[in-house]
Amino acid sequence: MTDTKEDIFLNDLDLSLEKAWELLSEAVSDRRSPLHMPAIGTVTEEGLPSQRIMVLRSADPEKRQLRFNTDARVSKVRDIGNGAPVSVLGYHPEAKIQLRLTGTGHIHRDGPRADAAWDQASLYGQRCYLAEPAPGSAVEEATSGLPADIEGRKPTEEQVEPARANFAILLVDVVRIEWLYLAHTGHRRAASTWDSRTGDWQHEWLVP
Ligand SMILES: Cc1cc2nc3c(=O)[nH]c(=O)nc-3n(C[C@H](O)[C@H](O)[C@H](O)COP(=O)(O)O)c2cc1C
Repeated sequence: MTDTKEDIFLNDLDLSLEKAWELLSEAVSDRRSPLHMPAIGTVTEEGLPSQRIMVLRSADPEKRQLRFNTDARVSKVRDIGNGAPVSVLGYHPEAKIQLRLTGTGHIHRDGPRADAAWDQASLYGQRCYLAEPAPGSAVEEATSGLPADIEGRKPTEEQVEPARANFAILLVDVVRIEWLYLAHTGHRRAASTWDSRTGDWQHEWLVP
């Protein structure tokens, strides 16, 4: 990142938000980007915070939407359901930018979006959803949960077919993006909140 660009971020709210989406969009295909694997926060049915790393599968600034893949049988899927609050957190050391996003989560087990996500996943990716019993189940011995005949092997399309029933996507409709930019001259912090009445983002600077 050049000095000129740094200066722009120091004073331009619109560009800061644009950069946030740019970093997220790049992170989808760039496995080396730290934002490729952000921490996703949810609230359990007991009201406790719960976080985990998930791979960012798509980031759409127009729809304000992020997508993640998950096993449909796990507790976070039940906790999120259709409209629970979800947080997304990542820090990009090269860009010196921390992103804290808040949104509403929606789980889709079926439908065109889930089908397309399943088709996009590799055979190894699809294999993860074959675990039995469901991820998070307590077991007597250490196990991958995978059937013995495909452990350590690339499965065939036929072998992974039953896994589709265990697959779901998590869509996060982003309603707030908080941006923290670390600059040696003085940090900058900004928040962008989606205003559903005007259909636009409302930006404001915050003290870092
Ligand atoms: C590098 C990495 C990537 C991961 N990617 C995903 C993912 O894309 N989806 C997912 O559900 N879990 C993913 N996990 C596993 C979760 O972090 C977590 O352990 C698992 O989903 C169980 O969490 P839960 O009990 O909250 O459902 C990943 C873990 C790591 C370390």
